[in-house]
Amino acid sequence: MPAGLKDVIAGQSEICFIDGEKGILSYRGYDIHELAPNSTFEETAHLLWMGSLPTSRELDDTTREMAGSRAVPAEIVAIIRHFSKNAAPMAALRTGVSALALFDPEADALTPEANRKKAVRLTAQVPTLVAAIARLRNGESPVPPRTDLSHAANFYYMLFGKAPNSTIERLLDVALILHADHEYNASTFAARVTAATGSDMYSSVTSAVGALKGPLHGGANANVMRMLLDIGDISNVQSVIRGMLGEKRKIPGFGHRVYRTEDPRATHLRRMSQEAGAREGNTKWFNMSVEIEEILKTEKNLNANVDFYSASAYYVVGLPIDLFTPFFAVSRMAGWTAHLLEQYADNRLIRPRAEYTGHAPDLRWIPVDQRQ
Ligand code: COA
Repeated sequence: MPAGLKDVIAGQSEICFIDGEKGILSYRGYDIHELAPNSTFEETAHLLWMGSLPTSRELDDTTREMAGSRAVPAEIVAIIRHFSKNAAPMAALRTGVSALALFDPEADALTPEANRKKAVRLTAQVPTLVAAIARLRNGESPVPPRTDLSHAANFYYMLFGKAPNSTIERLLDVALILHADHEYNASTFAARVTAATGSDMYSSVTSAVGALKGPLHGGANANVMRMLLDIGDISNVQSVIRGMLGEKRKIPGFGHRVYRTEDPRATHLRRMSQEAGAREGNTKWFNMSVEIEEILKTEKNLNANVDFYSASAYYVVGLPIDLFTPFFAVSRMAGWTAHLLEQYADNRLIRPRAEYTGHAPDLRWIPVDQRQ
């Protein structure tokens, strides 16, 4: 049995295709290199949920439905207000997403239409949760969502109280497109396993947020930036990275379970990090990243993954480091919910077996006072 279920096909899906040898990623048949420069997050979310690119009327409808679903109940904001100011935003988000179910009368309705509406609602509300979590821990009031801004711009607006310029909006929008789905990754699989028991969408995406939080998955982007800050200066890159490799430590942002060549999302994020650094007059983190990438390629034949260059790109446009992974969740909610719609449409309990490696089942119970 392959450790970590490596290369095991665990189910069928029409949503996302990855060729790890050739570095191909496509959503519903559209290569990510087609979508990243041309699409928007709203359009990509519609594509993932519905299976085809929207007509202009459908896109208007989806965009309006998403924008109109952004507000979260006041009770949710009140709950977040009581979180510890030191709570990790991903832990707070996990609880926030779970709490949304308590105020949705349709939380347990599993009809296709009820689930489609919840997919839109959940995707629309995650940015509102993340921004409220970020502001309340700083003692600031949450900024209510606007309906006239894109998903990307509205997230920035709710975070900082001002709309982004068009360049930052596009950077965030493309990042959202690139992160929106990735086949049977750990968090999506966790979501599908939960849904396959017949449980509801909120429970399923709560499982997913918990899985995304881990440093081997979505948590890696924040760790990339922490590493860059620890290294501090390009003159330290060689010694620190070679030292980490010498100690057999994993370098965040490198390696992948599926890709054996460049992660196609990293191709876009590298360029985005470079351009954002140049625009913001802060090329230091990009330059350090390039040098780290060269060492990893030469020494370990490892490629940068989606998390490596997203870190420096987000940092130079001012996203707080511990919001990098929540921002990943803002995007991936579209993919998680698309997979849930697919799971519910043709459900079978997901319940694999374990290869038993414990004691033979022949032990006899001994009273506690006779045990050694
Ligand atoms: N830095 C250094 N070495 C790495 C590495 C990294 N980031 N990623 C993998 N390797 C090495 C491993 O040490 C191992 O070497 P070995 O065979 O000499 O022991 C080999 O590459 C295979 O790695 P392994 O951890 O077994 O692969 P995996 O498929 O189980 O794990 C990841 C995949 C993504 C979890 C792993 O590459 C990793 O931990 N990366 C860093 C975290 C990260 O960026 N996660 C986000 C993924 S999108």
